Amino acid sequence: MAKLAADLERGSTPEVVLGIESSCDDTAAAVLVDGHVRANVVAGQEVHRRWGGVVPELASRAHQENLVPVVHEAMRLANIGPSDLTAVAFTQGPGLIGALLVGACFARSLAQALSVPLIAVDHLQAHVLAHFIPGQGKSPELPFLNLTVSGGHTRLVLVRSALDMQVIGTTRDDAAGEAFDKGAKLLGLDYPGGPLIDRWAREGDPKRYALPTPRMDGLDMSFSGVKTAFRDLVQSVSGGDPERLNEERAHLAATLQNTIVKILVERTKEAVERTGCTRVGVSGGVSVNSALRSEMLRAADTGEWSVHFPRPEYCTDNAAMIATAGRFLLHAGIVAPLDVVPHARPPKV
Ligand code: KG4
Ligand code: ZN
Repeated sequence: MAKLAADLERGSTPEVVLGIESSCDDTAAAVLVDGHVRANVVAGQEVHRRWGGVVPELASRAHQENLVPVVHEAMRLANIGPSDLTAVAFTQGPGLIGALLVGACFARSLAQALSVPLIAVDHLQAHVLAHFIPGQGKSPELPFLNLTVSGGHTRLVLVRSALDMQVIGTTRDDAAGEAFDKGAKLLGLDYPGGPLIDRWAREGDPKRYALPTPRMDGLDMSFSGVKTAFRDLVQSVSGGDPERLNEERAHLAATLQNTIVKILVERTKEAVERTGCTRVGVSGGVSVNSALRSEMLRAADTGEWSVHFPRPEYCTDNAAMIATAGRFLLHAGIVAPLDVVPHARPPKV
């Protein structure tokens, strides 16, 4: 609050945006002061681990418990109080409806109580705008292509401006993150399995086994066939013997990771060729994956295009990206009514 008081004395009123994210199993709050991240707090939900995936009802309840402490912590770290806020941004969707409702109700009430603008943010747009969170080096110049890869979504987007994005390719079935998580479960690994596959794959030979890479029309992708083929592979390699699975886990993890990364990189290369856009961004939880990062960098080098990744903490679900997207909307004059409702599915494109 001291910095804000000093700003006010100088006559400048800082823009203080609170971001709230609750679309899946992370409860997150962030404070941006004049666009700069002053606090970025994320509380994960351990409760899903024993079920091997996110249980929507448990996620809603955990958001109810976590949201107030997470917002308090973000404000404490940012050294501000509620009366310093100049806008409240929240995730409107897509996501789990019960989880979204918790964040939406909180944000609506807070904006009403403080008489500040309420901003409804699209989660997938925010994953793209994570590139513009300050303090990460150079962000991609517009226009650029973005591969958004998360647990719930996988899409190629042509980003003309912060608020003008066109989906040019998407998964027809599962998301890439889902394929990582379900594959990890077959290998006896915890949820979320993506980071664990990444770790196990480092010790494995990605060429030991082969999986099919389905080809879709246009720039679309598919991961459900990969998942089914991987289930059959795990079964045929281990024969249901846990010891054999232990011996082969690293090779199987490397095979799965290599296949998913190959699909993502190939489609991105094709998108570059088709659009002629030579600046690429990769974001969303799966963009933390070490093999995806190195293979994208290699493809960019060969194809003479550039590739950008947000810092890992801004790739997985976070509220700094929600507040950043909220600022773009606010500056464009796009403010939500106080009775705005969340939506589980992405808007039609
Ligand atoms: O963006 P995110 O946090 O949430 C959604 O919007 O879905 O993405 C979560 C997904 C999970 O599927 C998780 O397994 C995956 O990102 N993930 C990874 C890695 N880190 C997170 N997948 C592969 N390798 C990683 N290192
Ligand atoms: Zn996400």
